[in-house]
Amino acid sequence: MESMGGLKRSHSCNDLGPELVGQEVTLMGWVLRRRDHGGVIFIDLRDRRGITQVVFSPEVNEPVHAKAHRLRSEWVIAVRGRVSRRPATMENPNLATGAIEILADELRLLNASQTPPFPLDEEMEVSENLRLKYRYLDLRRPAMAANLILRHQAVQAIRAYLNSHDFLDIETPVLTKSTPEGARDYLVPSRVNPGKFYALPQSPQLFKQLLMVAGMDRYYQVVRCFRDEDLRADRQPEFTQVDMELSFVEEEEIYALIEGMMATLFRETIGVALAPPFPRMSYAEAMGRYGTDRPDTRFGFELVALTEAVRNCGFQVFRQVVEKGGLVKAINASGCGDFSRKDLDDLTAHVAQFGAKGLAWVKIKENGDWQSPIAKFFTDEERAGMAGILTAAPGDLLFFVADQPAVVHQALSELRLELARRLKLLDSRQYSFVWVTDFPLLEYDQEAKRYAAVHHPFTAPQEEDLELLATEPGRVRSRAYDLVLNGTEIGGGSIRIHRKDIQERVFAALGINADEAAEKFGFLLQALEFGAPPHGGIAFGLDRLLMILAGRDTIRDVIAFPKTQKATCPLTDAPSEVARKQLTELSLRPDWK
Ligand code: AMO
Ligand code: AMP
Repeated sequence: MESMGGLKRSHSCNDLGPELVGQEVTLMGWVLRRRDHGGVIFIDLRDRRGITQVVFSPEVNEPVHAKAHRLRSEWVIAVRGRVSRRPATMENPNLATGAIEILADELRLLNASQTPPFPLDEEMEVSENLRLKYRYLDLRRPAMAANLILRHQAVQAIRAYLNSHDFLDIETPVLTKSTPEGARDYLVPSRVNPGKFYALPQSPQLFKQLLMVAGMDRYYQVVRCFRDEDLRADRQPEFTQVDMELSFVEEEEIYALIEGMMATLFRETIGVALAPPFPRMSYAEAMGRYGTDRPDTRFGFELVALTEAVRNCGFQVFRQVVEKGGLVKAINASGCGDFSRKDLDDLTAHVAQFGAKGLAWVKIKENGDWQSPIAKFFTDEERAGMAGILTAAPGDLLFFVADQPAVVHQALSELRLELARRLKLLDSRQYSFVWVTDFPLLEYDQEAKRYAAVHHPFTAPQEEDLELLATEPGRVRSRAYDLVLNGTEIGGGSIRIHRKDIQERVFAALGINADEAAEKFGFLLQALEFGAPPHGGIAFGLDRLLMILAGRDTIRDVIAFPKTQKATCPLTDAPSEVARKQLTELSLRPDWK
């Protein structure tokens, strides 16, 4: 192998076009592929910006041509040569540099490479474990490199926007105390304080509120957060938030600020013009119409309530569910009357995963009659009544679920998504935003037998519901809001409690007594007594936003070094065992062996 020996890169592998024909250039990069053609060798040379074809011809330089025979995939080389126009028949319109090639006059072999464990030049399905183990190779693939470049551009656009709106970028601690965002904490033992632990932050929530008390009035941070929870395609144990907080604001100002930020972000990264303001929907409406608080509003198939219509009907299953306080809801899968028996069985199995005990269906025939296993249980009027509520027309397919509200909503919201997937209604280049507002402040946790915060315990209750805190806590609405994009919760926030008395009333409703409150959040309660301004904020899941901007299905594709579904890193082998001595130093006595 050779050194660079004074050679300097003059251009990237994406820079060269016909205007440079005749010029001498020096490129450095990786050999994507080598093709030998009747004595002439062609190399596709790649760097992160693109690809340039390099030609080694015995007529240009015989020793260099001979040397090029040694090249293999992913070797690192430097090439000096002249830009030459390709013969018209050899031009490649799919390549930015497709009109030219380099006639090589000098070649340096900077480093060799083993044969890569998977090909880097095609979008081939490779097991994710292998991709993660050799992530540095995976990231050489143009599509993955593009994701990282997009991520960089997105962060720059967000920072520029917030900087221009007078925000300060302030760092908050990573070794800290537990912040309750509803997940388990990652803990770090303290060597110098035996038996004591830091928690890695689930979010900078408490510190950003303290910064408001400190008068910083507009804070943001692009910040790593840690949550020990069960992983999914859109969840990682460490992920990045675009976190912000503002003083002297109410909801409207935050909505407008964020709508401007999204418009800037989409314009500057993917060239899409959004049209704010975004629609808004209360939590109650979202649950009613979509069965979820993160509705995908790119398509219809909305849920329709039939509970009243079937209250006294002849179908025992429906009647009994209603008698027990349950719901009967339906979806009109308009135009799906040609679904096969197998389609219907598959959809029934799909909703069964979410607890639905059955999925009743009705096909509307040309003459308006019902083709359905449940048609016989209803009178003509009942059928006509339901068809009217569902605006059913010939060729439509109706689906019904009867159960307790949580099951009905989850089953039908998942059915909606599955129908949209089957019918290919999910256009990843359509961006459907919606603000979800008026969340309940608290929800009853059946296992713990007490109320828990829906967002977090520092979220302000709505003024007019304050009196319900002591009597009917489940009915108190909060000043929390989520921003949902194409069915993904990309961000969430709230107006906060800035008065100690109200914070104490919320802790009381949560069953957190004064001692526990003092021990866990005493510092916050104290700060609220030193002139805390009214304040509120929001945090975005940067990885989720990028996943949607990049049109990907998992946030792992927009994170340089993500973890697997089991929270491991196949590249570094983390988490790993540590030496007993290290544990002793930390005053830890493992009992798992
Ligand atoms: P929240 O818990 O809703 O709010 O988090 C904000 C956003 O962060 C993203 N997110 C995640 N992304 C990837 N992996 C995860 N495990 C993960 N968990 C959350 C989501 C979510 O909308 N402190 C509050 C914000 C505030 O009130 O200002 C908070 O953390 O996109
Ligand atoms: P059965 O009379 O039990 O054979 O049910 C008739 C139809 O009703 C079948 O298509 C079932 O899938 C459907 N069904 C049964 N229970 C429910 C339910 N809880 N909600 C909706 N449909 C149901």
